[in-house]
Amino acid sequence: MAYLAIAGATKQFGPDFRALDDVSISVERGEFFTLLGPSGCGKTTLLRSIAGFSDLTSGSITLDGSDLRRIPPHKRDIGMVFQDYAVFPHLTVFDNVAFGLKPRKVPSAEMKQRVDEALAAVRLSPLADRMPAAMSGGQQQRIGIARAMVINPRLLLMDEPLSNLDAKLRIELREEIRDIQRQIDIAAIYVTHDQEEALAISDRICVMNAGRVEQIGTPQEIYGDPQTLFVARFVGTLNTLSPGPALDALLKKLKLPQSGVQTWTVRPEQLELFETGAASADAAALSGQVSKYTYLGREAHVQVATDLGHLIVQLANPGTSAGYRRGENVSLVIRRDAPMGFDAAGRRVPMGV
Ligand SMILES: Nc1ncnc2c1ncn2[C@@H]1O[C@H](COP(=O)(O)OP(=O)(O)O)[C@@H](O)[C@H]1O
Ligand SMILES: [Mg+2]
Repeated sequence: MAYLAIAGATKQFGPDFRALDDVSISVERGEFFTLLGPSGCGKTTLLRSIAGFSDLTSGSITLDGSDLRRIPPHKRDIGMVFQDYAVFPHLTVFDNVAFGLKPRKVPSAEMKQRVDEALAAVRLSPLADRMPAAMSGGQQQRIGIARAMVINPRLLLMDEPLSNLDAKLRIELREEIRDIQRQIDIAAIYVTHDQEEALAISDRICVMNAGRVEQIGTPQEIYGDPQTLFVARFVGTLNTLSPGPALDALLKKLKLPQSGVQTWTVRPEQLELFETGAASADAAALSGQVSKYTYLGREAHVQVATDLGHLIVQLANPGTSAGYRRGENVSLVIRRDAPMGFDAAGRRVPMGV
C-alpha cells in the first residue's frame, strides 16, 4: 500500500454541492506530489481533510497504514504551511518555530536544538531573535516552513505557500522548498494553481477540476501527454484547430484518423514557421498572415491567421531581429505527430503515430 493513500474521498457541502467527488490518490515516501487546478476545484478542501481541519463526507485516508480519519488533527504528525504565512507577530522568529513543539512537551535543550536546525534549513539562523513584523514576505514564509518542519512531521502539506510573493522570489523559494524536502526526505503535498510552478517543483502532479481528478502523472506526462482537453488547456498554451474543409484536408494529408475526434488541438511549440512553404512527406504546410507578434525575450509568439483559425506559433531564441511584421505572409508547418485529438467527452483519442 502507498505511504499516503486516499480512496474515494468525497466532501459534500449542503445537499447538492460536492467540493470533492470520488478523489483517489496515492503518495509514496519522499515524493513531492502537487495538486494543481483552478480556484475552487477542491485543492484546499482535500488538504484540510488530510490535516484533519475538516472531515470527509465519505472515503478513506491512510498514512503509513494508519486510518487518519480516526486520529485527531494534533496527533496526526502533519506539518502544514499556509498561503498567508500565519506567523505570530508578538513572538520572535525562534518562538514562532518553537510554538509547534510546545504541546509536545519536548525538553528545552532538545527544543533549542530542533528549532536551530529548522532555522538553519530555511537560512534564518541569524534572524532568530527578530520579530517577524519587520520581515519580508519571503522571510515570513520561511518561518512558516521551519515551523511545519520542526515537529518532524510524517507528511508536509503546503497550500499555495508562494502565491503572495513576487515572481522572482517565488522561483527562488520554490527551489529552496524542493531542496529542503529532498534533504529531509519527507513526503510532501503541495497545492498550487500555477501550472509552471507545478511543472518545476513536482515528482508527480494531480490535475483537479470541479472536485474530480483529471489526470495524475509526472510533469512530462501531464504536459506532453495530456489525457483530457481540460488538462491540455490548463497546462501550457493550446491552439484549437477550427473545424471545416481546411481541417479535413489537413487531416487527410497527414493521414490522421478522424473518427471519434471532436476537437483537434496543437501546442504552439509544435508548429514551425517557414518564409517559403517547405513541407516534407510527414508534414503539411498551411499558409497564413501574421496577425500579432509578441516578443518575450527567450521566446516569441507569432499569431498567424489561417484557414484553421488564429494559431499561435512559439519561436525559441528569437534573437535581436525585429521579428515578424503584422500582415506578413508566412507558411506554417504541422508535423504528423503534432495534433492531439479529443472526443466529445474531452478525452484524448489515441492517434497511433
Ligand atoms: N465550508 C464551506 N462551505 C461551503 N462551501 C465550501 C466550503 N469550503 C469550500 N467550499 C466550496 O468548495 C469548493 C472548493 O473549495 P476549495 O477547496 O477552497 O478550492 P481551491 O482550494 O481549489 O480553490 C469551492 O466552490 C468553495 O466555495
Ligand atoms: Mg485553496
